[in-house]
Amino acid sequence: MTYDRKDFMTEDEFGLLKNLINKEFGILLKGDKRLTLHAKVSHRLKILGLKSYRDYYDFIVSDTTKDELFTLASHITNNETYFFREKTQLDAFSEILKDIKREKQKKNLKELKILSLGCSSGEEPYTLNIIIQESGLFLWDWDVRIIGVDLDKNAIKRARLGRYGKNSFRLNGNADSGTNNFLNKYFTSDGNHYILRKSLTNNVEFRFGNLLDNGFLSDINEVDVILCRNVLIYMDDTAINKIACNLYNCLTDSGYLFVGSAESLIQRTDLFVAEYNNGIIVYRKSPHPPFTKRG
Ligand SMILES: C[S@@+](CC[C@H](N)C(=O)[O-])C[C@H]1O[C@@H](n2cnc3c(N)ncnc32)[C@H](O)[C@@H]1O
Repeated sequence: MTYDRKDFMTEDEFGLLKNLINKEFGILLKGDKRLTLHAKVSHRLKILGLKSYRDYYDFIVSDTTKDELFTLASHITNNETYFFREKTQLDAFSEILKDIKREKQKKNLKELKILSLGCSSGEEPYTLNIIIQESGLFLWDWDVRIIGVDLDKNAIKRARLGRYGKNSFRLNGNADSGTNNFLNKYFTSDGNHYILRKSLTNNVEFRFGNLLDNGFLSDINEVDVILCRNVLIYMDDTAINKIACNLYNCLTDSGYLFVGSAESLIQRTDLFVAEYNNGIIVYRKSPHPPFTKRG
């Protein structure tokens, strides 16, 4: 029997990869995730013809294209998502749309800009689009733009397809979101999958990007609402502060930030303040922020 180094990740190698993942993406691999990481990436060593995880680490850090770094990211991220996830928050989002419309009308503006950060395979940004269309508040000459960003290239590819299996529709998210009425209204079917109608995909754009990078949204500003849900839960304070700074800079002064209901920014950044709004906590830009600079 031969002993193959590829079949084993040492503590030192785990430490190198864990620190790299934390530095690049903000993601913390908590507890002993050595075996989990090994199970998720061992095939990359085979594909790349590398003998050890130390070689794999050296390969990643010397790769100026960062391709393997993002391949690693796509293997370690949790992409769990579904239509109408965390319905109470979405109900609050729907109510907030009315306030946004009122404010825009006062300023004679007809643009609505929404960001879904850590959008995974797209169920969240498309859900927002359904809610916006259902509200009937932004029809005709309104320019409604929704942008989804994720660091997992495979998830972004799936999001752009707008084609979903049964798992994307869970009854606990929204009592209607798995029913035939709901599906027929917004999707066509190709057998086992549901494909979003063009009217719901036309104004939704997907970008590959790392929320820790300062340039990932450098061309986007005056955003009305940002959803960054179930992303920060895996991150440490340093990463959260970098991300908060990037979000602060692209959100309009009167904008709203939603994080997941299991997440909190309270005492983790000075850039946003919590506000109780329509039964949930949303974040607004702090009126007295410390100095901010992207990333
Ligand atoms: C659990 S999913 C959440 C999806 C959706 N927001 C929801 O709540 O249903 C988390 C997503 O965040 C993405 N993510 C994690 N760290 C990221 C980072 N640094 N930059 C961009 N996306 C990130 C992951 O790739 C994953 O698709």
